[in-house]
Amino acid sequence: MRTVAILTAAGSGSRLGSDRPKALVELAGEPLVVHAARALLCAVALDRLVVTAPAASVEDVAGALATVRSGPVHGGVRCEVDVVPGGPSRQASVAAGLASLGDAGLAADDVVLVHDAARPLVGHATVRRVVDGARRHGAVVPGLAVADTVKVVDEDGRVTGTPDRRTLRAVQTPQGFTWAVLSRAHEAGRHRADDEATAATDDAGLVEDLGLPVHVVVGDAHALKITTTADLELAERLLSRAGTDR
Ligand code: C5P
Repeated sequence: MRTVAILTAAGSGSRLGSDRPKALVELAGEPLVVHAARALLCAVALDRLVVTAPAASVEDVAGALATVRSGPVHGGVRCEVDVVPGGPSRQASVAAGLASLGDAGLAADDVVLVHDAARPLVGHATVRRVVDGARRHGAVVPGLAVADTVKVVDEDGRVTGTPDRRTLRAVQTPQGFTWAVLSRAHEAGRHRADDEATAATDDAGLVEDLGLPVHVVVGDAHALKITTTADLELAERLLSRAGTDR
């Protein structure tokens, strides 16, 4: 059984106040996309890694990944790393990654990980839990219990509900699927992909829409999503501290 991965890195850096794509913003001297690619490649033996980049930055992202191509990988087995242009939404970018994997001759039960370059600090143990879970269940997401009470609000900001927080999980990436499940889910959701307002914000959501089960495995407290400069500063501090599960 093979394992491949799509790494989404086609977002802009605007919320980080950067004129470069977010994936090329540096954390401890290396671009976020390099940290995220290395986290995947060192955790499991990947057969192929497809990275989505903004169309204008495909070469820059490919250049940044040169260090990962020649660096350490799990089991010492080199994998093909391709960089392809992303789309107008994250969903569209994942679909572009899937299209690029179309010629890989994947079997229905091969595992596809989908990971965000915006989560550079995911630990190896979490990646492995996701791969194992995807083999077992077909679709898994890493998730953490929610400490805050979460409100549902309408467009006027009026609270319409308070879900029982014991039933909530904040989900992360990588999410893991069998090739059959993920390709079917993206095919069914294709009409939503071109507009951020309708696009799915994660891949599991598309699987849920098919009525297929998605399971949660334990997530990673260090795998925070880098959105603001405060997140970047926190990630720098976490990286400089020992004790992650890498
Ligand atoms: O925008 P957001 O932070 O939710 O993006 C999550 C991930 O999806 C990031 O790694 C980003 O680079 C990626 N993305 C993408 N294509 C887009 C938008 C976001 O690959 N059009």
